[in-house]
Amino acid sequence: QTLPILQKTVKSCSKCPLAETRKNIVFGEGSSNARLVFIGEAPGEEEDIQGRPFVGKAGKLLDQLIEHIGLKRESVYICNVLKCRPPNNRDPDKKEIAACKNYLFSQLDLIKPKIICTLGRHAYNTLFDVDERITKVRGITKDYRGMILLPTYHPSFLLRNQDKIREAWE
Ligand code: URA
Ligand code: SF4
Repeated sequence: QTLPILQKTVKSCSKCPLAETRKNIVFGEGSSNARLVFIGEAPGEEEDIQGRPFVGKAGKLLDQLIEHIGLKRESVYICNVLKCRPPNNRDPDKKEIAACKNYLFSQLDLIKPKIICTLGRHAYNTLFDVDERITKVRGITKDYRGMILLPTYHPSFLLRNQDKIREAWE
């Protein structure tokens, strides 16, 4: 298994109903041997059009965050829990996450990063199979199968709550 082979599989995936409404799958992008992986929630409108993760407004903020920690977007890896856009950017539902999460797990197995930064509650809850609030878990590192996992706010949330940006920077 390699990332390009997995991407081909995802491209023809119809394991959940989002396959019918997506324009493009958004597999993820970046370095295949990244030491740091960011995991968001699901593609939005712009991501669905371009087939790339975090290329809209929230993506601009994520880019700034990556720059702030002295890295380049190309040197990390960026992906989402869901590979297809939920209509009107609604929250992913449980069945969609159940259908899609193995792709994410395979990506992590293949990349084997040192650090995973989960953005928002869905990525965190999917990896640990829990239902926590982001305000409770944010900023506290945990072990995730030998990797360091650091949960933080989702950039879309930060756009709406700019007073929280400082905590995310930290
Ligand atoms: N929000 C996400 O969770 N992922 C994206 O790729 C874009 C916006
Ligand atoms: Fe398949 Fe995931 Fe897209 Fe659903 S969201 S169709 S499981 S790739």
